Amino acid sequence: MANIIWHQTTITKADREKQSGQKGVAIWFTGLSGSGKSTLANRLEAALFAAGHRTYLLDGDNIRSGLNRDLGFSEDDRKENIRRIGEVAKLFVDSNSIVLTAFISPFRSDRLSARKRFEPGEFIEVYVKCALNVCESRDPKGLYKKARSGAIPFFTGIDSPYEAPESPELTIDSEHQTLEESTEQILLYLKEKEIIH
Ligand code: PPS
Repeated sequence: MANIIWHQTTITKADREKQSGQKGVAIWFTGLSGSGKSTLANRLEAALFAAGHRTYLLDGDNIRSGLNRDLGFSEDDRKENIRRIGEVAKLFVDSNSIVLTAFISPFRSDRLSARKRFEPGEFIEVYVKCALNVCESRDPKGLYKKARSGAIPFFTGIDSPYEAPESPELTIDSEHQTLEESTEQILLYLKEKEIIH
C-alpha cells in the first residue's frame, strides 16, 4: 500500500509469549449453518478458559452485528467478512490469545488467504462436517425453511456454495459424535501440538 510503512512495536509477540507462557493460535471453525460450529466453539472455549488459558471467541452473528454490520451475504461481502475476521484473529494471536472463530467461511480461497496471514502452526482449520439434509432438519434458527421459501436469497448450501476444506487440520463429524467427543478431539490435537499441556 502506498506510503504505509509497517512499524515494529517495541514489545514483540515473542516478549508477550515469554511473559504469559502461552502461545497464541487461531482455531478456525468452518461448516454449514446448523453444523454446530458455534456450539462446539463455545464448549471448547469454556474448556480452555477453565484450564486457565486466555481465550476469545469471534462468532458470526455477533461480529455481523458490530464490526461487520455493513456486510451482507454476496460473494464479495463474504470475502470481506472473512478478510476482516482473519485480520482480527491475527491481532488476537499476536497478543498470545487462543482465538476461536466460528464463521461459515464458505470459500476455500478466503480461508487460504486468512491462513497465509499466520505463521506455520498458528492456524488450525477445523471442518465441522455435517450433511446438508441434517443441518436442514436441525434448522435451529428456522433459516433453512425461510431460504427454501425464497425469503433468504443466497443461503449457503441452498443457492450459495459451500466449499468443504480439502486438508483441514481437523475434521469433526458433528453428525455422529457427541459434543463432548468433538471437544476432546480438539483438546487432544492441541496437546499433541504442545499448544496446551
Ligand atoms: S460467511 O459466509 O462466513 O460470511 O457467514 P457468517 O459470517 O458465518 O454468517 C453466517 C450466519 O448468518 C446467518 N445468515 C446466513 N447464513 C448463510 N447464508 C445466508 N444467506 C445468511 N443470511 C443470514 C446465519 O444465522 C448464519 O449463522 P450460523 O451460525 O452459521 O447458522
